[in-house]
Amino acid sequence: MQTIKKRIAEQLVAAVKGINDAAELNVADVVAMLEYPPDANMGDLAFPCFKLSKTLRRAPVQIAAALCDAVRDEAIAKVEAVSGYLNITLSNDYLATRVVPEILEKGDAYGSSDYGKGKMVVLDYSSPNVAKPFHIGHLGTTVIGHSLRKLHEFVGYDCYGINYLGDWGTQFGKLIVAYRKWGSREAVIEGGIDKLVELYVRINNAIKGDPENGIPADDALAEESRAEFHKLEMGDEENLALWKWFVSISLEEYEKTYKQLGITFDSYKGESFYTDKMPAEVQKLRDAGLLKIDDGASIVDLSDYNMPPCLILKRDGSTLYPTRDIAAAVYRKETYKFDKAIYVTSAQQCLHFAQWFKVVEMMGYPWYDQLVHVPYGTVSLNGAKLATRTGNVVLLKDLFALAIEKVTAIMKEKNPNLENGSEIAEAVGVGAIVFYYLTNNRMKDINFVMEEALSFDGNTGPYVQYTYARACSVLSRAGEVADAPIEITTEEESALVKTLCRFGERVDAAVADYEPSYITRFILDVAAAYNRFYHNCPILSAEDETVRASRIRLTAAAKTVLGNAFDLICLKKTEKV
Ligand code: ARG
Repeated sequence: MQTIKKRIAEQLVAAVKGINDAAELNVADVVAMLEYPPDANMGDLAFPCFKLSKTLRRAPVQIAAALCDAVRDEAIAKVEAVSGYLNITLSNDYLATRVVPEILEKGDAYGSSDYGKGKMVVLDYSSPNVAKPFHIGHLGTTVIGHSLRKLHEFVGYDCYGINYLGDWGTQFGKLIVAYRKWGSREAVIEGGIDKLVELYVRINNAIKGDPENGIPADDALAEESRAEFHKLEMGDEENLALWKWFVSISLEEYEKTYKQLGITFDSYKGESFYTDKMPAEVQKLRDAGLLKIDDGASIVDLSDYNMPPCLILKRDGSTLYPTRDIAAAVYRKETYKFDKAIYVTSAQQCLHFAQWFKVVEMMGYPWYDQLVHVPYGTVSLNGAKLATRTGNVVLLKDLFALAIEKVTAIMKEKNPNLENGSEIAEAVGVGAIVFYYLTNNRMKDINFVMEEALSFDGNTGPYVQYTYARACSVLSRAGEVADAPIEITTEEESALVKTLCRFGERVDAAVADYEPSYITRFILDVAAAYNRFYHNCPILSAEDETVRASRIRLTAAAKTVLGNAFDLICLKKTEKV
């Protein structure tokens, strides 16, 4: 669609200049002005003439009438001037002879482009905190982050995905103390990460106490935890060994979740990796006169930018979250030579990123404007009763497990003889959660309603995966198909191809706005268009051989575009459901 829009825009720019040579309008402006009319009767693209009224000193209706004859293209069947709009209808012949063959020919690459070629994007996402629960709050960073990675790759960027594990900090002091007090090697081997989280929750509760019910806070335990963390920082061998062990147990567990999602990372360099890289940056800050001492702590004053100060060192000299992020950014710039570094976290961290991005700028690093924070809204859950071993948070793996369990039950009823049932149930269950989550714009707060996410007939993951499987089944039943020309004669066929050809444009917009939900909603459009075509136009049972072959190839085109779009949002391609 981008190419058609561009050609139309070129002609419109020339025509507008023909009316008034002084008109300042360029092709990109016109491309941006072209709209998709809400109703197919108004054509496939519309150009509103209202804004031109002033420069051209004519009424919009007159402008539309004057521009009507200017647009001539093989892709266009007709152009009409209606109430100040230019309504443009694409030609079925063009869709059949150009668009569909292009989709079939490009296959996996359809919708991709190469404007990112030669540029490196580093993405920091998922990044759970070891020993603390990997909960549904991390769903956003994990799936938005990975989608952004896929999207950037699809438009040509080299990408490097980093899981910046929260593998350092006072929580390890607590965990070490709790482990020695209440845990054992056997219990941790047996219980894995659940045991670690249980120990962590237990010591936190003990430290906090329950003053309302007469249980006082345990300051001694807090102090002991700090001391153990300090020992760890000083390289105490026993503590180091425990720490390494805790991290590896956690990683093993995360890997299971990542596998369910089809996610891999290029690096797991977590916070601990940067401990020895911070002093140099702190020194740089000091040399530049940017550090101020405030109540014993070292801070960077950001009042000129209407932000609270950025904390660099605590009173006891220990480093903080922003300190580590600054050191990590410098390391990543040097190591990966990024052109853009994307950080995906919940919107609660907006201030943190705004602060340290500003500090990087103040330090004189010229690449400060290549740092991008991509925030997202909060996630809550209602309806689904999940056992929350950990108090009031819901673990991501439990959410997935529940979805898989429910899908398994639905599938047993629908299709009891399905081969590889458990693999498919996993793809559909996890897909349902991902799809539901990515349907809304990322800043919107999400409230999970499990029944809605899992429904096979709403605008859901199961529904689109089922549609994909339906297309696969048509193709496998069709067998060998003669290389007949595509014919588009029905409204359903035409509407389907018009939807498919918007894919590239949706990809570009999703990259520009860091918004995977554009792809999710595009998938829904394709699924709706394909299902309408499927129900109203006989495919395998079409009497005419050419029509049959043409419709099978339309099915192949729909399957290709759906599959390419699934890949961009961590949705598995299910050949059977
Ligand atoms: N571990 C952090 C958390 O879960 C997220 C880390 C985000 N990345 C970063 N470079 N700060 O809250």
